[in-house]
Amino acid sequence: MPRKAKKTIGVLTGGGDCPGLNAVIRAVVKTAITQYGWNAIGVVDGYKGLIEKKAVRLRRADVSGILMRGGTILGTSNTADPFHLPAGRGRTRDVSAQVLRNARALGIDVLVAIGGDGTMHIAEGLRKLGLPLVGVPKTIDNDLSETDVTFGFNTATQIISDAIDNLHSTAMSHHRVMVVETMGRYAGWLALVGGLAGGGDIILIPEVPFRIEAVCDEVMRRSRQGRRFSIVVAAEGARPRGGLMVVGRRVEGSPDPIRLGGISAVIAAEIEKATKLEARNVVLGHLQRGGSPTAYDRILATRFGAGAMHLIAEERFGEMVCLKGAEIRGVSIERAIRKRKTVPRDHPLLRIADGLGTRFGDDGLL
Ligand code: F6P
Repeated sequence: MPRKAKKTIGVLTGGGDCPGLNAVIRAVVKTAITQYGWNAIGVVDGYKGLIEKKAVRLRRADVSGILMRGGTILGTSNTADPFHLPAGRGRTRDVSAQVLRNARALGIDVLVAIGGDGTMHIAEGLRKLGLPLVGVPKTIDNDLSETDVTFGFNTATQIISDAIDNLHSTAMSHHRVMVVETMGRYAGWLALVGGLAGGGDIILIPEVPFRIEAVCDEVMRRSRQGRRFSIVVAAEGARPRGGLMVVGRRVEGSPDPIRLGGISAVIAAEIEKATKLEARNVVLGHLQRGGSPTAYDRILATRFGAGAMHLIAEERFGEMVCLKGAEIRGVSIERAIRKRKTVPRDHPLLRIADGLGTRFGDDGLL
C-alpha cells in the first residue's frame, strides 16, 4: 500500500466501555506506525480529553500487551458531549469550537472515534464542523445499524451464557424460578443470543412485549411436567404489553440519560405471586462489560482498528468501519446513526427458538 504524508492520528474511546477496546487501540496504533509511518496519540477519557486538551503520545510499546485486557487504557466518559456539556442547574453549553481548536493544538490530523451511537452522533457533529475523522463501532448491545455485529457483543453473550449455566444448578436444586436480567438498552440482542446460548426457557426482549400471564402459564406448564425450575432471561428493556420499560436511574449529561434496570425484580415478584413457586432475580449488570475479550472479539476489534487506518489512508473521512458478511467495509457515520438496530420480529433465531419450545412471553410471536 502506498505511504501517505506523515499524519498524526488521535484516537479516543467514548461512552460505556466494552471488551475489545484495547484491541482496537492496539491495532490503530500499530497499523498507523508500522504500515503507514504515521504518529498516534491517545485522547484521555473520550471527548472530555478534547474539551480539556488531554492526550498522550502512543508508541508501539505503549500498546504492547493490551490485546487481552478489558476496559480501555485511554479511559472513557459518557457525560462529555461537546455540543451539550452540562453547565449546572440543568443547563448545557456548546464547546464544540473549543474541541476543534484543541484537536488542532494537540496536532491531531485525523480522529478515530471508537464508540456507540452517542459517540458516533458527536463524531458526526464534529465532522460537519470540519474535523476529519473515522468511526469504529463499539457496544455490547449490538444495536448499531450498518454493521452485522459490534465488537464486545460476543464477549458479553459468553458471559451471559456462562452465568445462566451457573444458575441452572442452583435453580434445579431449589426448584426455583430464576429471572436473569441482561443489559442491551432498547435492543434484545444480548438477552436473545445469550439466553439461547444458555438454554433459557423464557426469553423476554423489548421487541416482543410480554404478557405476564403467558410467562406464568409457561412456568406452571413446566412445573406440571416435572420440570420444577425455570430460567427466565429478561432484557433490561423488556416490557409488558401496553406497559413501560423500567428506568433504573438518569445520568445527566449523557447523550441518552436514561439507564434501564429493575425489570427482573418486578417479573420475579409477579411470578412468585401468581404461581406460588419461589422466584429470585439476578441482575448481571456491568459484569457483562468487564474482563478479557473473547478470541472472536479480539479479531473483530483488530480488523476494525486496522480497517479504520485504511479508511484514513484513502481519505474516507466521515465513515465508520463495519462488518458486512465476512468483509470489513466503510459506511457513512450519518447513515449508521440514522436508525437503531433492534431484533426484527422475523429474525431467524426467534423462529428457531420458537421451534425448540423457547417461549417469549407472547402467544402470537410468529
Ligand atoms: O450501552 C452499553 C450499556 O452497558 C447498556 O447495555 C446499559 O444499559 C448501559 O450501557 C449502562 O450504562 P452505565 O454504564 O452508564 O450504567
